[in-house]
Amino acid sequence: MSQIPSDFLWGGATAANQLEGAYNEGGKGLSTADMVKFVPREVSQGTNTETVTYAEALEIIAGQHDNEYYPKRWGVDFYHHFKEDIALMAEMGMTCFRMSISWPRIFPHGDDLEPNEEGLQFYDQVFDECLKYGIEPLVTLSHYEMPLHLSLEYNGWENRKCIDFFLTYAKTVFERYKHKVKYWIPFNEINMSLHLPYTGGGIFIEKSNNKLQTTFQALHHQFVASALTTKLAREINSQFQIGSMLGLSLYYPKTNAPEDILAAQTANRINYFFLDVLSKGEYPTYANAYFQKNQVQIHMEENDLKILKDNTIDFNSFSYYYSLCTCAHPENEESLVAFVPEGEVIDEFHPRKVRNNNLEVTDWGFQIDPIGLRIAINEIWDRYHKPIIISENGLGTYDTLTTDKKIHDNYRIQYLREHIAQMKICVEEGIPVIGYTSWGCIDIVSAGTSERTKRYGYIYVDSDDYGNGTFNRYKKDSFYWYKKVIASHGEDLD
Ligand code: BG6
Repeated sequence: MSQIPSDFLWGGATAANQLEGAYNEGGKGLSTADMVKFVPREVSQGTNTETVTYAEALEIIAGQHDNEYYPKRWGVDFYHHFKEDIALMAEMGMTCFRMSISWPRIFPHGDDLEPNEEGLQFYDQVFDECLKYGIEPLVTLSHYEMPLHLSLEYNGWENRKCIDFFLTYAKTVFERYKHKVKYWIPFNEINMSLHLPYTGGGIFIEKSNNKLQTTFQALHHQFVASALTTKLAREINSQFQIGSMLGLSLYYPKTNAPEDILAAQTANRINYFFLDVLSKGEYPTYANAYFQKNQVQIHMEENDLKILKDNTIDFNSFSYYYSLCTCAHPENEESLVAFVPEGEVIDEFHPRKVRNNNLEVTDWGFQIDPIGLRIAINEIWDRYHKPIIISENGLGTYDTLTTDKKIHDNYRIQYLREHIAQMKICVEEGIPVIGYTSWGCIDIVSAGTSERTKRYGYIYVDSDDYGNGTFNRYKKDSFYWYKKVIASHGEDLD
């Protein structure tokens, strides 16, 4: 008998800007993600290419970059394929589909007075299709995008007014879908505003003369927005479950020297910081000490701390792809630089990432570490004692479509098998992990590099990085494997 309960949420995860396409259909406004152009791998070397400057955004709007290709505008055309795609998910036996609503599909500019009915109708159809198959939607309100207008006019989340715009949006979709959706996540990987301000917070960071000040201020606005969204959710439907979502990569110390252990502990605090605020409802002492040391002064309104304290989330969710490693003197060690964003602040909270030679590393710099998932679940449970959803996990890599339209992705099966096995141990030890939604259940555009050929899915989409292809869907070997895993409640991982 499996230890994984029969109501466990087995699913897959996506984001509107990487999945939907149809960027200019159905009354949708431009999103910050629509501005991200494709940079070929020969140039990017697999590093992150998702940041856009204010000047570039204006040029793009003025048509000065019309010769460029913007993959997130096209996604994998879920907008026109959603019935077929959800049917395939149902065939796999998925009981949960994590997706996001595109904020500019509902409020094209973000500060509009009325929502876009056509956008609302689209998600009605998507949710109805999920519910027809008994698939529970898990919905992110802002996954790496916001209406571009809010970035251009307000510099995104740096401006407190975004709290009200976000609440208007949240209220609209909560009321509209209150009988269709139970699980909600206000912000995807809320820590990303710190590392990639444009992606996480719609912020043109070149407008700021103090990156830390700007990003922590923007984060404060997102924290308050998240807490007020949670409050609103409970008022609209007391059955709603609201979750945090953290991009989690725990740091190991490079050696057992006490100074290395301290360096790793300090680095891990920048993971816990976000959940301390969202899940415990308070700014931790170490964060206040860090702010003081770095002259960061967060402007708060009178009730902000009480709002955070009174409206903590119901469950914690996180993405987990790899673990990290650091030490007291990282400058003397081999770096793991492939995915360090340009301009990343380097200090005790954001240390250089050094290579962990015990682990294999993918071409995109992801150090594969299934045991790290177990460590992460244990840590998050021990600290917060709230149910956990693994909202992203998976292997992004190239696949080959054979002439007979098969995809033999044993490497992906191996990655997922080893990670699910570690998650199972946690469940067997009594930790309430209530769901697992692996990333990109269908191939989608990469967030970091905008490649369409960096694939995570069980379902292959026939398209190259430039959108050439039939966009036909094909089942990978992992499709049949995951179907078996779900049917056996995680017992049969072979
Ligand atoms: C997570 C994001 O950080 O990682 C996703 O929430 C993203 O949006 C995923 O796609 C994998 O990253 P990438 O760059 O391989 O797409």
